[in-house]
Amino acid sequence: MDVHKRLILQNKAWAEEQQEKNPELFKELASGQHPKFLWIGCSDSRVPVNEITDTHSGDIFVHRNIANMVVHTDLNLLSVLQYAVEVLKVEHIIVCGHYGCGGVKAAFEHNNLGLLNKWLRNIKDVYRTHKSEIEAVDGEENRINRFIELNAEEQAINLSKTSIVQQAWANGQKLMLHGWVFDIATGLVHDRKLIENDSELDEIYKYDLESGVKY
Ligand code: CO
Repeated sequence: MDVHKRLILQNKAWAEEQQEKNPELFKELASGQHPKFLWIGCSDSRVPVNEITDTHSGDIFVHRNIANMVVHTDLNLLSVLQYAVEVLKVEHIIVCGHYGCGGVKAAFEHNNLGLLNKWLRNIKDVYRTHKSEIEAVDGEENRINRFIELNAEEQAINLSKTSIVQQAWANGQKLMLHGWVFDIATGLVHDRKLIENDSELDEIYKYDLESGVKY
């Protein structure tokens, strides 16, 4: 049997099993979503958010891209962020990187990858910002791991540079930004950064929210 057909069969078995466990589940899910979390993760197949956090349908609003990036010209990311913060009113945004990330590793190297160069350029900027710290680490694998940690932390900081997040904080909305790194080799998450307000954000990134211009 072709592998894609197996997915359809497995879906059927899953739907029947869920229905048996909780006959109301799909009716409840169909009535709307109220997730408390927005997850910004890597597209890597080994970091499936609901599995590694032992959560269920409806718990987590999700955006994934190569190397869990928060890029300020990415309309996809910004639309997800705006909807999650302003409409769903999520209380936590988790940027989750992972050790062994091929995207960060590619940014560490010098291969000319065409279109991918443009995406990876954003990760190279994280390297430049933390160059002395990364280069002080012994061994290439450890250096890449440190780069991965700093990238997740920088992407959480990038969230706080958006007017979307700053406006939510100005409105008194509870919104916590997290920088995590998942270790594929152990299955464990490392909690590395928490941002609850703009107190550590450099002044240059702060917007005058009284101006009336929304985005
Ligand atoms: Co990755």
